[in-house]
Amino acid sequence: MFKMCSVVLLTFVVVRSAYAVVPHTHKIVESVVAPSEWINVGSAPADHIIPLRIALPQANFAALEEHLYAVSDPAHERYGAHLSKAEVEALVAPHPDSVSAVDTWLSEHGILNKRMLDTTFKIFKHKKHGDEIVRTTRYSLPPHLHPHVELVQPTTLFSRVRRRREAVHSVVQAYPRDVRSAGTITVTRSDGSTMTVDASCNATVTIACLRQLLNIGDYRASGTNGNQIGVAGYSEEYANYEDQQIFYRDQLPEAVNSSFTYTLVNGGKNDQNFNSDEYQDDPDMQTVLGLVFPSPGTFYSTGGKGPWIEDSDTPADTVAAYGAWLDFVLAQEKLPQTISTGYESHEQTIPEAYARRVCAGFAQLGARGTSLLVMSGNGGVGDANGDPRTQSCWTNDGRHKRQFLPAFPASCPFVTTVGSTMYVPEVATEFSGGGFSNYWNRPSYQNNAVAEYLTKQLRGTYAGLYNPNGRAYPDVAAQSINFRIAIYGELTAAGGGQQATAAFAGLVSLLNNARIEHGKPPLGFLNPFLYSSGLTALNDITSGSAQGCGTPGFSATAGWDPITGLGTPDFSKLKDLVLAL
Ligand SMILES: *[C@@H]1O[C@H](CO)[C@@H](O)[C@H](O)[C@H]1NC(C)=O
Ligand SMILES: *[C@@H]1O[C@H](CO)[C@@H](O)[C@H](O)[C@H]1NC(C)=O
Repeated sequence: MFKMCSVVLLTFVVVRSAYAVVPHTHKIVESVVAPSEWINVGSAPADHIIPLRIALPQANFAALEEHLYAVSDPAHERYGAHLSKAEVEALVAPHPDSVSAVDTWLSEHGILNKRMLDTTFKIFKHKKHGDEIVRTTRYSLPPHLHPHVELVQPTTLFSRVRRRREAVHSVVQAYPRDVRSAGTITVTRSDGSTMTVDASCNATVTIACLRQLLNIGDYRASGTNGNQIGVAGYSEEYANYEDQQIFYRDQLPEAVNSSFTYTLVNGGKNDQNFNSDEYQDDPDMQTVLGLVFPSPGTFYSTGGKGPWIEDSDTPADTVAAYGAWLDFVLAQEKLPQTISTGYESHEQTIPEAYARRVCAGFAQLGARGTSLLVMSGNGGVGDANGDPRTQSCWTNDGRHKRQFLPAFPASCPFVTTVGSTMYVPEVATEFSGGGFSNYWNRPSYQNNAVAEYLTKQLRGTYAGLYNPNGRAYPDVAAQSINFRIAIYGELTAAGGGQQATAAFAGLVSLLNNARIEHGKPPLGFLNPFLYSSGLTALNDITSGSAQGCGTPGFSATAGWDPITGLGTPDFSKLKDLVLAL
């Protein structure tokens, strides 16, 4: 993602914070207000080393975006004609003038010069977690470099990727064995058809239940046709081999003894010791492979800091991990056709230039034919931490304005964002993340769906608390609570947007499998299809609402809504549709 001249890649910039030299030649590139949970506790040590990555503008991104929409829109003659790695790289390469301007700037400064960014780095300590980071609230560059440098990071990045188990609805409880009830439940879906599922699925969601609820029937993927699924993990959370076996023994005996691949990115680890203090589990691989076995799965464990940092007082730089993961996967010739990721941060805590760069990287994945599924969040219209009824939500831009808090990467227009439902018949969960981006305008593929919601359903409610012109999410939804999965060596009931995302990703991987079996290219970026012809294969969810910011939040309604999107998928109908494309 970060196209750099090679000299920059391995550059260590020593920042001596004691001097606040202000060259008249610099102009501010970015200025942020440190989020209130990060307290400035003093100047960074004079010899503190920060490896900086300098992103040069992708001069031709508009052309890449055009290709992305052409190959992702079923109505376009180029549908499915995804771009190769080389074609994408040619489109996002920096202009040679940018490369030489930055090269000259670096060599003029001998690289190790405190004045380069005209900034002062400080140590910030996290109020709740106690970790410390070295950051600044603004940095500058000589004006002639502004057109040639998109961003320099980590400088102003304060956000954390939310650890899923901090999220209220990811709480693991003892598996309630006594709630399995006998019989079946018959429900009527939004198109008038009926569906019958085991009554036990209303309290415990197993792979067998997902097959019923998603109308997968006995369709199976192949282990040999090249279909693959990836799960992107961050924030020191790990997929566990033993948990995977416990899960298979419980629900998928034919998969016992099979495993998945671990891919370590940017210093990420493969920690299998759930007795260690640092261990956190990422059970998403169980749900995706539960649906997709025997197609192979890859777990990406992405570290927050580069392996070259030996400095123990530099904590995991978790948000930068999105960029590091993209750098890694985009450099691979072959990508999984489907990738799931269940993490979120508040959009406003990610500097806009950085968020844009990461989102542009997701567009590259789509252009190459990968479907990326992202969790909509676990905090409704606000924050997953704290009581949604009393939460106050404010902008962090110095205006301190009351506002709903959209999530990233959910708000990126080039991903498919998955909201949360529960129970049979399905209703929206009260924690399903949803809302409107303040960084991206509404993309045209969702224009009709969202405009209809705003004018016919919302009709002015919450005016001022959200951006009515912003990219609206989620796009779709899936079951999310009472999943029976193995965590820390035990079967438990777990829930959260990450489970919904994994379930939806599993379904998409089965669709990609069907396309591959018929000699067709994979689905790639899904949204232009979902908002057009795909719509008839989604079951509209019309009840439930997500609280937050001291409000009842958005409600599920007829048509698209910012809590369950267009609805939950019907595999059998979708399969017929995608095989006809
Ligand atoms: C499913 O469970 C929910 C929550 O307990 C309940 O409200 C609903 O009535 C149940 N559905 C059926 C068909 O019993
Ligand atoms: C899994 O491996 C164990 C130990 O080698 C073996 O006893 C068992 O039969 C295997 N199970 C399956 C389903 O292959």
